Amino acid sequence: MSLRHFLTLADITAEELETLLRRAAELRALHRAGELHEPLRGRVLGMIFEKSSTRTRVSFEAGMAQLGGSAIFLSPRDTQLGRGEPIEDTARVLSGMVDAVMIRTFDHDNVERFASASSVPVINGLTDDHHPCQLLADLQTWQAHRGEIRGRKVAWMGDGNNMCRSWMQAADMLDFQLAIGCPADYVPEDLADYANSRHETSPMAAVEGADLVVTDVWASMGMEDEEQARLAAFRPYQVNEALMEAAAGEALFMHCLPAHRGEEVSAGVLDGPQSVVWEEAENRLHAQKALLEWLVTENRQ
Ligand code: CP
Ligand code: NVA
Repeated sequence: MSLRHFLTLADITAEELETLLRRAAELRALHRAGELHEPLRGRVLGMIFEKSSTRTRVSFEAGMAQLGGSAIFLSPRDTQLGRGEPIEDTARVLSGMVDAVMIRTFDHDNVERFASASSVPVINGLTDDHHPCQLLADLQTWQAHRGEIRGRKVAWMGDGNNMCRSWMQAADMLDFQLAIGCPADYVPEDLADYANSRHETSPMAAVEGADLVVTDVWASMGMEDEEQARLAAFRPYQVNEALMEAAAGEALFMHCLPAHRGEEVSAGVLDGPQSVVWEEAENRLHAQKALLEWLVTENRQ
């Protein structure tokens, strides 16, 4: 059997995605019932973080502990990666010591290079281009509230980068429509490759009739220099009460967090009744436990 990685959603089939989401819901129920489930006893996850993180770090570390294993936090400041040891050499060395590796980095190419030299599964914990683990949690949260997403409309408001692209992949895999509301300069350059995604310059047109409205920070990690220009460009795309009014009556609101009240989302929407962001954040834990259980046990058979 060939080694499986999770660098983008496209690394798994739609059927595997549905299976993972079902398992994530089961693991959530087990956890909430206080039941121990330790299939990864003695297994170790290496976690390389080249960008800051709260949710990703804690959910992977807690998740491994709950599955009976452990996790090692590695930052470039304290490892030889930060002093120029090649990614491929690091991958070969870690592969001999741990059972899976999670990486959060800048260029998506870095995780691909790491995976190409790794003999254990590699998980993308966020690159400039993709955030597939977040989509597992978001889709799990959607299913818990609304069931099937096929045929629904999702409005993505704001920057066309990592989160947006993972939503674009999900739209084609699970057959729902994605309307991307953003200024023309921020449209994902590969939009044409995704049949179920389209761009709307008008924020109202993007959210009209949407069953789910999603947004993210306007200046992602690594884009701090562009912050002022982005604040000005994205202002009309803020998800606020007026915008949510144009969505479907029962529309949900999601945000991967951290959020900036008064910028990409109003406080009223983020903290309001349509928002499921806290459950969405918790589901990072359950969804990634399903992913770890599958990737680590699958690759040991
Ligand atoms: N949503 C998310 O990935 O959060 P962190 O940056 O805190 O990991
Ligand atoms: N788009 C954001 C997501 C953070 C979880 C970033 O890349 O900074």
